[in-house]
Amino acid sequence: MAKNAKKKKNLKAEPKIYKGLAGVITDTTSVSKVMPETNSLTYRGYAVQDLAANCIFEEVAYLILNGELPNRSQFNKFKKLERSLRKLTRGHLDIISMFPKKAHPMDTIRTAVSYLGTTEIAWGGEPLEKDLERAIALLAKIPTMIATDFRLRQGKQRISPRTDLTMSENFFYMCFGKIPPRKVVKAFDISLILYAEHSFNASTFAGRVIASTRSDLYSAACGAIGALKGPLHGGANEAVMEMMKKVGNPRRAENWLRNAFKNKSLVMGFGHRVYKQGDSRVPTMKNCLRDLTEWAGDTKWLEIYEIMENIMVNEKNIYPNLDFPSGPAYYLMGFPINLYTPIFVMARITGWSAHYFEQNTDNSLIRPLSQYTGKQQRKVKPLSKRK
Ligand code: COA
Repeated sequence: MAKNAKKKKNLKAEPKIYKGLAGVITDTTSVSKVMPETNSLTYRGYAVQDLAANCIFEEVAYLILNGELPNRSQFNKFKKLERSLRKLTRGHLDIISMFPKKAHPMDTIRTAVSYLGTTEIAWGGEPLEKDLERAIALLAKIPTMIATDFRLRQGKQRISPRTDLTMSENFFYMCFGKIPPRKVVKAFDISLILYAEHSFNASTFAGRVIASTRSDLYSAACGAIGALKGPLHGGANEAVMEMMKKVGNPRRAENWLRNAFKNKSLVMGFGHRVYKQGDSRVPTMKNCLRDLTEWAGDTKWLEIYEIMENIMVNEKNIYPNLDFPSGPAYYLMGFPINLYTPIFVMARITGWSAHYFEQNTDNSLIRPLSQYTGKQQRKVKPLSKRK
């Protein structure tokens, strides 16, 4: 064969590598639809803005888990069950009390969820009803795990969950012993709605990979929590606030950003793998940030937000993602920065669970291929002959 023809043939054999699976459709889903062309997002066919305006988080959790919004009696039943499951057992509380006080709350929540998996023998692919019960238990107990760890690490008494409060009210109560004004609770509740689900994002996909091996829901949730922790994914809401605190003052925001450009640093809370012209969830969360700014009488963070957004959009054509408004929003609500990604877990457990069910319903083991670029095959020399 002529040299050129041979070269051509080899080139043809080179497989296309989809780094980061960018642009690859790996399966179908009926849980949510991300539409970058219109900057919109629907859960089970409902626009997130519509859900945020008309529902509380628990209704949205029901929708994501069951496929339909609940009617009054279905909702009462769901609420009653979720509230009855909020408490943790003595053993679970003991485990949480033993976590190192300096551990990141994402590591403690991952371990606390894992502990729940040791309390029963659970295998994947069980009847949906059994896994649905587990998903509701995770939804109910994760906020208690986060708040208990938060209190104990400060040397404070833990606060038991109440059954007369919504999930958002109860979370504030378990963290701080009191419930803030309605406007603040509403902003928090909306953040949970917006964080609840987002198709095949990295943590959901990690959970689906685990589900595809027919492993159990707790294992899928732990893997998903691990993926969410990273600053390119859920960890960005913490990184945003750390960044804004470094900026410190609206007067310094522009210079700070220009330095970041010079150093080619990532600006946290900007950019998205799917949305390239804006994140559908940002306007709703930015409105919440405006409400919180007014309530707290602290305009600094919103001012820094506006300056950074303007420059990033106008000069770089890179838009803020949901983590950009939610970081300062949680700050104004009074949460410590290392609790922001665990709050994301509280919400996203609904999406992860729904995807776990979906993967189980029509499963195929997720096992892609790779292109080997290492050493050619070679012989092992006995230890005595190796230099
Ligand atoms: N700050 C600075 N530059 C950014 C950026 C950011 N936040 N996001 C993207 N860019 C740049 C990239 O470096 C790239 O530049 P290049 O072409 O010179 O290499 C260009 O914009 C295009 O990036 P793109 O390929 O669209 O990004 P991606 O899809 O690989 O990555 C993220 C998406 C989310 C990982 C990325 O935007 C990022 O790291 N953002 C910051 C972390 C964050 O907020 N994560 C939460 C996501 S919801």
